[in-house]
Amino acid sequence: MVDPTARAGSPGERVRIYEVGPRDGLQNEPVTIPSAAKRRYVELLVAAGLREIEATSFVSPAAIPQLADADELLPSLPRVDGVRYPVLVPNLQGFDRAERAGAAALAVFTAATDAFTTRNIRMSVAESLEAFTPVLARARERNWWRRGYVSTAFGCPYSGRVDPRRAVEVGVRLAELGVEEVCFGDTIGVGVPSQVGDLAGLASEAGLAADRIAFHFHDTRGTAAANVVAGLAAGVRTFDAATGGTGGCPYAPGAAGNLATEDLVYLLDGLGYETGVRLGGILEAARYVVGELGRPLASKVGQAGGWDPLTGSPTGRA
Ligand code: COA
Ligand code: ZN
Repeated sequence: MVDPTARAGSPGERVRIYEVGPRDGLQNEPVTIPSAAKRRYVELLVAAGLREIEATSFVSPAAIPQLADADELLPSLPRVDGVRYPVLVPNLQGFDRAERAGAAALAVFTAATDAFTTRNIRMSVAESLEAFTPVLARARERNWWRRGYVSTAFGCPYSGRVDPRRAVEVGVRLAELGVEEVCFGDTIGVGVPSQVGDLAGLASEAGLAADRIAFHFHDTRGTAAANVVAGLAAGVRTFDAATGGTGGCPYAPGAAGNLATEDLVYLLDGLGYETGVRLGGILEAARYVVGELGRPLASKVGQAGGWDPLTGSPTGRA
């Protein structure tokens, strides 16, 4: 059980925010925005201080038409020292495309349940690990940074409850295949803080220490911020979020909304962590992207703004 009164960490300690808006956010929006708008969105994210931005996917364009412009988009993004643009790669065909486009970091993606991977990538979990083996070997040869996702780590839209030991087992297999970081995803936003603590504890027992794992929460049921606090209490220091709270996963019914980066930054700022990210800059990028998508900004901090304790007034609103 997580002790809710435990101090999450020491003030000034660094927390990494891994931005997934351009990939996970945009892949599940009904509107496909033009490449030039995606580039502008990424420029605003970089300007806000983000240093890891999952930029796009080299998957089948028939599966995810929203990201079919990956080959042109990736080379057009601003090259900034210290900024990494991981891309999603499911197979060697995707690896070759990513390499031609100049990628230097990738993420492979599987899940804790066969029911999910069968629909998402048309493979069982075991088959997906087999497909990733040569992809990760090649990425390692090229010295690319490598992440592995375990989706449905807290629950599956098709098969229900997920045993955290199963999620950890898949994470350990990904680590054996050479990923530097394992990201456990709450794809449909059903998890609660006690599960986060349990999963991190089991991962650590299995040899995946807190500094090798990341959490990817969806705020579908309002538990994402609480889950981040539980992750911090368990020693995890990397969290995914999507500026504007966009997206989800097209193969996960009900997976509305990644944790919004603006909500995460507000929380981490208030807790005293150092993220290098400016809330005002994130709010600008959030407004820009939802404008392109033609919908309102739904995140909590997007609506209320930040807060200046000196004046008691909201900050960063349009
Ligand atoms: N890039 C571009 N095209 C690809 C591709 C890639 N990485 N991988 C496969 N394709 C194409 C093949 O060329 C083939 O095209 P064709 O029909 O014109 O000949 C077609 O896709 C089918 O190829 P196949 O190898 O049989 O793949 P599949 O149909 O079994 O699909 C995946 C497997 C993984 C490629 C596909 O399901 C996919 O891309 N899923 C992505 C899902 C996703 O991104 N989800 C979001 C994460 S939550
Ligand atoms: Zn997501």
